[in-house]
Amino acid sequence: MNLEVFRNHCLSHIGVTEDCAFGDETVLFRICNKIFACVDLNRPHLAVAKCDPDLSIDLRDRHSGIRPAWHWNKRHWIDIYFDEDVPDDVILSLIDKAYWLVRTSLPKKTLYNFPDLPSGWHHEHFPELVSTMDCISDYESDSPFLLITTDFQTKGRGQATNSWESEKGANLLFSMRFSPTRISAGSQFLVSQVIALSIVEALKRFLGNEVLIKWPNDIYYKGKKICGILIDHKLSGLKILSTTIGVGINVNQQSFPLHLPNPVSLFQILGKEVDRAALLRNIIKSFCGFYEKAQNNPERIRKMYLERLFLLDVPARYKSKGRSFIGTITGTDDNGQLTVSEEGGASRSYGFKEIEYTLEEGSAS
Ligand code: BTN
Repeated sequence: MNLEVFRNHCLSHIGVTEDCAFGDETVLFRICNKIFACVDLNRPHLAVAKCDPDLSIDLRDRHSGIRPAWHWNKRHWIDIYFDEDVPDDVILSLIDKAYWLVRTSLPKKTLYNFPDLPSGWHHEHFPELVSTMDCISDYESDSPFLLITTDFQTKGRGQATNSWESEKGANLLFSMRFSPTRISAGSQFLVSQVIALSIVEALKRFLGNEVLIKWPNDIYYKGKKICGILIDHKLSGLKILSTTIGVGINVNQQSFPLHLPNPVSLFQILGKEVDRAALLRNIIKSFCGFYEKAQNNPERIRKMYLERLFLLDVPARYKSKGRSFIGTITGTDDNGQLTVSEEGGASRSYGFKEIEYTLEEGSAS
């Protein structure tokens, strides 16, 4: 065992952060701000880990390289000597145990406690993550629907190479994963339509009918972006094996950095805070309904999506391949491409990034 392997194993667990709050030479590993392990760079043959008191007694009997922690509470912490008789697999499993000991003792956050989550859903909340998209792809779960929420992302992902910025604790940031086995790969745009409609439905309760979907799945309020969505399908031939959706909704953020093109939050519109958990519950509830409908009556979903499409049947200015033109959105085709009929010209379909909207303030996105 060496410090690097120890450190990498600590960091491989979901939600783990490292810091040097006790001084430059001491590296602390935390889950949700609570320490579960620590190493001292001056003593690279030694690590400290949290340990169940009974297990600690048992381990100390079996390995001379495991002792009550010198500088920590001796009942709950152990020193692990890398250069004595403790095998590497035992050390790695002690890291796992320390992590889970701390993680399972964390208070259940009432904000994200979902007593009424539909059956088949599993939810985990993390105060801080790199991105819910990364977390969910590492997260193993047998539940048909997995939902990961966080209060803050250190590297939130937006569309293409963009990042997603969101003030700590202010907004809704979540990812969900499921296997839409009854929707074929060729109909994958249906999944986009379902999640967009679910968010519109939940936001409509606060904002009324001016919540619209800007193709393919941004959610807009009066020409400004209130929600961004990422969708990632894993395909095998004609089947969708699994779908991961990431959603960021601007809920209680009061102001945004100037470099963001056209954001708006519920707080800015309503002048008061909104309960993020209640909003999320409504989204999940709507999602379950629309998802069911997508499998039984996809045409209905396509129609509802069109009814909510931003700038449908309204002449507006667009840009494609550097050329600016006036066109009118007439709908989306079977592949989910946007159909636009150009003033005095033909109608054609555009894929994602092939067409830009030129919005009033001159901010295209
Ligand atoms: C967009 O650029 O419009 C898509 C933004 C998607 C942001 C959400 S926030 C939760 C999830 N995790 C991420 O890293 N991104 C998505």
